[in-house]
Amino acid sequence: MIFDILTLFPDMFRSPLAGSILEKAREAKLITVNLFNIRDYAEGKHRVTDDDPYGGGTGMIMKPEPIIRGIKAIQSGHPEARVILMTPQGTPLRQEVVRRLAQLSHIILVCGRYEGVDERVRAVVDEEISIGDYVLTGGEPAALVMIDAIARLIPGVLGNEGASEDDSFSRGLLEYPQYTRPRSFEGREVPEILLSGDHQSIERWRKREALRRTWERRPDLLTRAGLSDEDQKILDELRGSSGAE
Ligand code: ADE
Repeated sequence: MIFDILTLFPDMFRSPLAGSILEKAREAKLITVNLFNIRDYAEGKHRVTDDDPYGGGTGMIMKPEPIIRGIKAIQSGHPEARVILMTPQGTPLRQEVVRRLAQLSHIILVCGRYEGVDERVRAVVDEEISIGDYVLTGGEPAALVMIDAIARLIPGVLGNEGASEDDSFSRGLLEYPQYTRPRSFEGREVPEILLSGDHQSIERWRKREALRRTWERRPDLLTRAGLSDEDQKILDELRGSSGAE
């Protein structure tokens, strides 16, 4: 998977991509991250990349020419590369979106800055993505979130195959509670069932706790989760035993 990043601040990517799992993935050539400075595609002595908004208002708008020139330069020879603009106006990033993007081989991530990018940039963008309903100073942290979330789904990146299938959201539910040693910590005990060695019972308990946690914290996820009849039965029991309607 190739990630090409178009940004005014390539340095913001260097430290987050160094160390830990993403660096190992790059060393193993499972992912490649190339950084491109939008300023390099700007013209004139001062290589200006932003300007005042037509119609007035505060803040600066990123000019269309440098961004579009940059996208076209990266795209030449790579027509398959998908161009994604990071913006709070985009499709919300959810695990199902991450799964879809992880199937691609080449993504160009365009990071906007300031108060926004000229609307005409959208004509050369395939898709727009938001990492949440809040506004960042620029698309760079959002692009890093995308790289991280996508990379961990690429076979070999996590080392432990299947690790990404087991976690929160993989089945549309929050994760069940996890424990490791010690068995007793400050008076809090590991649930007996996890020590039982009875794998079927442990699976049932985990399913129930995942459903409980999702129902308590993120009931909005349950409507999307694609619950089985058995899941639905467990949920009905949980609702009944809580005294809720
Ligand atoms: N740029 C600024 N805020 C953003 C957000 N929430 N998601 C993606 N890109 C952004």
